[in-house]
Amino acid sequence: MLKKLSAALAVGLLASVLAACGGGGEDTASGGEAGSGKIVLGFSQVGSESGWRAANTKSVKDSAATAGIDLKFSDAQQKQENQIASIRSYIQQKVDVIAFSPVVVTGWDAVLKEAQAAKIPVILTDRAVDSDASLYATFIGSDFVKEGEEVGKWALEEFKSATGPVNIVQLEGTVGSAPAIDRKKGFEATIASNPNLKVIASQSGDFTRAKGKEVMQALLQANPKIDLLFAHNDDMGLGAIEAIKAAGLKPGTDIKIATIDAVKDGMTALAANEINFIAECSPLLGEQLMELTKKAAAGEPLEKRIVTKETTFTPQQAAEVLSTRQY
Ligand code: AHR
Repeated sequence: MLKKLSAALAVGLLASVLAACGGGGEDTASGGEAGSGKIVLGFSQVGSESGWRAANTKSVKDSAATAGIDLKFSDAQQKQENQIASIRSYIQQKVDVIAFSPVVVTGWDAVLKEAQAAKIPVILTDRAVDSDASLYATFIGSDFVKEGEEVGKWALEEFKSATGPVNIVQLEGTVGSAPAIDRKKGFEATIASNPNLKVIASQSGDFTRAKGKEVMQALLQANPKIDLLFAHNDDMGLGAIEAIKAAGLKPGTDIKIATIDAVKDGMTALAANEINFIAECSPLLGEQLMELTKKAAAGEPLEKRIVTKETTFTPQQAAEVLSTRQY
């Protein structure tokens, strides 16, 4: 009788130990739905709208593999509702950490509160949200205002001897996204010190090459004299170059062009003097994201804001680094 009782107790104890290790949402360091013992990271990507995004996705996937992190990856195709649905699915799956690059700034409070209630730390990568900072663990990404300022400083210098109006058109990124809002803000505030520099038209090209071309075609038709194009990313700038050439004009000469990102295609156009200036925005966030994921899963405190280090490029500087550019 005593033997039977201790056998039953042993089975009961083993069952409760197994249940505890089996991957509840709070079992942060060794959990994971699949019970692989690896940290499980649910990542919701914005989409695949640009060369920058492709490089960012590769960086996240490669770094997860190197770090031994089990990555669950979803592509939201530039739609907020898709991102919210995948974050909810990661919560249901009880992943250890959630990371996402928010397509727009607003509308995240509810889902962030759900993640917090489930005790799953959330890491913002690349883009910011306007939610209270207590709702996420950290935000790693560029200073987009500074990127816009860098382009503005370059424009001030480039057109410093202009005696009349300098007509500027701006191709903005996705409406409501942090990079579109901040780059515009940084750029327009900087050029305000020279009243000759005037933004005569500003429209979204949704960060894509196709939209950049389409919008630039319309801008060229509506505005007979354009001196400078500021495109919020390389891809829109490259699309616009096609439109400028189709209109019989020489990009980089007849219309000066400044962009942001410094992906390989952009740098190639810069080295060929079809673009005149690029402010870098680094997509290589994967390695740091995995370090942060490990810390978050272990319950360690994280710095609230981590700003990516970036530089700027002239045509000559682009030509010098082009052969060694990673993306
Ligand atoms: O959020 C970063 C921006 O998103 C990049 O500048 C752009 O190319 C991308 O689509």
